[in-house]
Amino acid sequence: MKLKFLNAALIVSGLIAAVPAVQAAPQVEVLHYWTSGGEAKSIAELKKMMEAKGVVWKDFAVAGGAGENATTALKARVIAGSPPTAAQIKGPSIQEWGAEGVLANIDAAATEGKWDTLLQPVVSNVMKYKGHYVAVPVNVHRVNWLWINPEVLSKAGAKVPTNFAEFFDAADKIKKAGLIAVAHGGQPWQDTTVFESVVLGVGGAKFYDKALVKLDPASLTSPTMIKSFETLAKIKTYIDKDSAGRDWNLATAMVINGKAGMQFMGDWAKGEFTAAGKVAGKDFLCVPAPDTEKSFTFNIDSLAMFKVKNPEEQKAQLTLATAVMSPEFQEVFNLNKGSIPVRAGISRAKFDSCATRSMDDFAASGKAGALEPSLAHGMAVDSAKAGAIQDVIAKFMNSTMTPQAAVDALAKAAKTK
Ligand code: GAL
Repeated sequence: MKLKFLNAALIVSGLIAAVPAVQAAPQVEVLHYWTSGGEAKSIAELKKMMEAKGVVWKDFAVAGGAGENATTALKARVIAGSPPTAAQIKGPSIQEWGAEGVLANIDAAATEGKWDTLLQPVVSNVMKYKGHYVAVPVNVHRVNWLWINPEVLSKAGAKVPTNFAEFFDAADKIKKAGLIAVAHGGQPWQDTTVFESVVLGVGGAKFYDKALVKLDPASLTSPTMIKSFETLAKIKTYIDKDSAGRDWNLATAMVINGKAGMQFMGDWAKGEFTAAGKVAGKDFLCVPAPDTEKSFTFNIDSLAMFKVKNPEEQKAQLTLATAVMSPEFQEVFNLNKGSIPVRAGISRAKFDSCATRSMDDFAASGKAGALEPSLAHGMAVDSAKAGAIQDVIAKFMNSTMTPQAAVDALAKAAKTK
């Protein structure tokens, strides 16, 4: 047993108990956590597409940003021996699930669709377990964004920040104008989302990689990491007192409604602006998080496929995988979701200025060696380490822990097995 999170005995007994009933129409059951306004609109497009192909869509939506609750629900289903057809699983976790022997080989769809030629190896490698496709990529999200309400900025007499000095200057002015400078939801994954952008800004892409991807102990306890925590502590002072437990999309709504000026968040936030009828570059601005202009932290959503017994469901599973990689889906989903297409060959015509900037920066940072996997979004390290690190950041955000104590705790968390 390679994973601590599944119990082998339970799986075996569950499998025996859960022989699936024969279904009338082919069906896919898809576990996801896309429940906010923009997210729900995005996933509805996949449902529509599957139904047009005569496949029944069984929605298995579990609310909760970044998918923590969804993962818990998924484990329960797999342990009970009745996995869904597909589930949103990303990054190194795909390997963890693959090692459990529960994922299905979808090479048939990948070969027919020529995925190897349409995807960059940095993406396709993650979708394969032992050389076989077990997951289909959906999109590329950029995490190191700052979302801005330009009206709030102009009311406060502040200008759009590009670095931390300008950021804190703008934050001071917004605060003085009686508004909330930084919209934030106090949840561990949101705390870590801010933290990783701060580390990227303070230390640069190379430092980020050494510290948060390679987990180099010297980098984790370095003066640069101390400075990152000091910066994070300062950001904390611009967050309102009601932030505890607030969902990310409610924080985005504060920026949309002009209650708050800025939010550190990945570009799923754009899905909320879009769903509210707001226009990029006019009603809201997207700028790289302070001092991170030349870097790009990526977060690739994907649907991993589970071994299912019913041959009709197996066929429908391949239909689902093919639909996700289709140009039609890649365009319409990503227009709604705020992300950019993951595959080559999609026209830019309908995408807004935030998306096209993301496309350009993705390519440029890839060439410059400044394309980094997101720690907060399960791209950088295995789930046990990511969880332990996230706990440290959350503790720092919610206590008077010093930066020195935080880096020591961080180094310890990075050793979690
Ligand atoms: C991310 C995920 C996005 C979005 C966000 C908020 O981890 O990749 O698709 O759903 O969480 O839940």
